[in-house]
Amino acid sequence: MPQSPIILGIETSCDDTAAAVVKRSKVLSNCVASQPVHATYGGVVPELASRAHQQIIHGVVTQALQQAQITLNDIDGIAYTHGPGLMGSLLVGCSFARGLSLALNKPCIAVHHMEAHMQSLLIKENSDGSLNEVPEFPFLCLTVSGGHSQLVLVEQAHRFKILGETLDDAAGEAFDKVSKILGLPYPGGPLIDAYAARGNARAFSFPIARVPDLNFSFSGFKTSFLYFYQKFNPTQRALTESERCDLCASAQFAIVEELMLKFRKALSLHPVKHIAIAGGVSANSGLRKRLQELAQQKGLSLFMPRMEYCTDNAAMVALSGVLNAKNQQRIHRIDAPLPRWEIALT
Ligand code: KG4
Ligand code: ZN
Repeated sequence: MPQSPIILGIETSCDDTAAAVVKRSKVLSNCVASQPVHATYGGVVPELASRAHQQIIHGVVTQALQQAQITLNDIDGIAYTHGPGLMGSLLVGCSFARGLSLALNKPCIAVHHMEAHMQSLLIKENSDGSLNEVPEFPFLCLTVSGGHSQLVLVEQAHRFKILGETLDDAAGEAFDKVSKILGLPYPGGPLIDAYAARGNARAFSFPIARVPDLNFSFSGFKTSFLYFYQKFNPTQRALTESERCDLCASAQFAIVEELMLKFRKALSLHPVKHIAIAGGVSANSGLRKRLQELAQQKGLSLFMPRMEYCTDNAAMVALSGVLNAKNQQRIHRIDAPLPRWEIALT
């Protein structure tokens, strides 16, 4: 593998089909095709997701190569998401990557989806030529997505210490549930965020879980929001704009409050100078604002991914491939993808 390898990344762990090309820590292209088919179901339908991946993966990979202005002959390896995620979805990306690797006789590198979310903070140069500042190790990272909520001490580019995680649902699931209850489409996070910006966060009050240590819990919040809403709107009438905005703002406040509570606690136990967020929920403007205030208050440096690297993307997968290019446990695996793959703690 050369000093500055060119890696093609492929991401298909859930409902986004993504491909990207990265040269060392510079993104040459980053293409994502979302799957609108899930919008009306209130969540991802696994079988529909794998079928959609199958239909568009070739086109998305072709587009990523074209945008990077390279051909398959120019790449030094292929990185793909090996887990965690939906088995059918993972299988599409894994099979495609392994097929390419065999045909081209180039290494195939298995990437851990949540590690990749955190490693997206290490992307130094974007495809438009703009530069990102990157955190110094160790940094404390709140990794929040539709499937995971974790507090992680990132000790090195591929050494992670999990300090706490959700005992039940992920923060992204809580946003998606609120959206479903309010009759809004999936994914709910971006919509709740937009309505919340125009609402009063103190209009309604929802419980914030008190679970031990640095763990989170969102199942109680989800149930309490459902019961509250059933009483608030028993006839399922159309909400007024201000009711919808206030409900979204109050729900977002409760979810963000729970995350901030544990983030502060983690910081007091692990007083690092650099803090970060990653994963789909890191796009949330309420959370970003609260973390900015915290960083300012405590004199810390805060690192937040650019919007295109918050939700699922393949630039993070390709970069993770670069970082794991010499990791023998990740190269040329022959095992099936791992839907519940734990982060490597070494
Ligand atoms: O990382 P991601 O794209 O996929 C998984 O790995 O799960 O995260 C998707 C999650 C969804 O639950 C979505 O509602 C949430 O991220 N999300 C947001 C926002 N944008 C996406 N949640 C809150 N505010 C947002 N702006
Ligand atoms: Zn993700």
